[in-house]
Amino acid sequence: MNLKDCYSFDDFRQLAKQKLPSPIFHYIDGGADDEITLKRNTSSFDNCDLIPNVLNDVSNVDLSTTVLGQKIDFPLFLSATAMHRLYHHHGERATAKAAEKMGTMFGISTMATVSIEEIAKLTKGPKLFQLYIHKDTGLTDNLIERCKKAGFNSMCLTVDTVVGGNRERDRRTGFTTPPKLTLGSLLSFALHPGWTLNNLLHEKFQLANIIHTTKKGSGIDKSVVDYINEQFDPSMDWKDAEYCVKKWGGPFALKGVMSVEDAKKAIDIGCSAIMISNHGGRQLDGSRAPFDQLAEIVDAVGDKIEVILDGGVRRGTHVLKALALGAKACSFGKGYLFSLGAGGQKGVEAVLQIMKDEIKRDMTLMGCKSVKELNRSKVVFR
Ligand code: LAC
Repeated sequence: MNLKDCYSFDDFRQLAKQKLPSPIFHYIDGGADDEITLKRNTSSFDNCDLIPNVLNDVSNVDLSTTVLGQKIDFPLFLSATAMHRLYHHHGERATAKAAEKMGTMFGISTMATVSIEEIAKLTKGPKLFQLYIHKDTGLTDNLIERCKKAGFNSMCLTVDTVVGGNRERDRRTGFTTPPKLTLGSLLSFALHPGWTLNNLLHEKFQLANIIHTTKKGSGIDKSVVDYINEQFDPSMDWKDAEYCVKKWGGPFALKGVMSVEDAKKAIDIGCSAIMISNHGGRQLDGSRAPFDQLAEIVDAVGDKIEVILDGGVRRGTHVLKALALGAKACSFGKGYLFSLGAGGQKGVEAVLQIMKDEIKRDMTLMGCKSVKELNRSKVVFR
């Protein structure tokens, strides 16, 4: 199997499984506890059906939208996710270039493996920085200032990861960053010589934006959950979030909002967007799916803040359903990380092209000329 055999998310996942050592594949693929939320995030889109309209001259369909102050060619962007060097030796460079080529936004994490400055130089496309508040409080100011100077367009603060979720797959595989060979994982690394060689021959894995304050996770291997529990600040509160919003002074999203109450507080502290997300089912298992929470949140705050749906998106129709309920755009993480593992920049471009084509075909079949025409009349819950 290779990239040209990939027609859907499941195909990219299969190819990534073939190419990546199992600790790395399972780090992307897994969720918390029994992975109920992980599965619900996608299956929840099946709770409703689309109602098309016909005979509406759909010879020209405009997929573009504006989110966090940036125009994107279609209403799906690459959610900021950590440590792309794990999946491909070009790391976040591959993601950034693919997003630019395909006309959408991407994000890099505080836990990125390429520096803010290098990424900014590499692409003129819209870019988002995902902030994690560390106990080392100086780091927050440092990251915000660097992003401003480098010309990032927007920022999000992830608020659902004050402790690490219970990721049993990672415990079983002994997954750490930097990836380390253990007796248990040896066979898996040996069976994936392509990845293993690329890992050895290219630049060393490091958390490029944090390494100046701690070697943990870069030179000293850690499980991700241990890293989170040691380094992230669980005392973070609304005042800290407000501080970040003000200090940044530009388009700002809270990522990981799941309740109407918190969505309203996000408006009060000056956020321009919320990302409804449960961290891809990797944190609180049993948390409701973002899509199931969407309508209620849009009804309460949709006229005052942009609502982005993050989680479970695998198909163009998922994006259409979210937009019909009032989301401004969708974002996905696993949706492109498998393709990054499967084929680097070309892999991410391939999955984005497939999703763009699906959205366009689905909009055409729905009789919608633009994303504005997707509204509540187009979906019915079962
Ligand atoms: C994770 C964090 C680091 O889910 O985003 O693993």
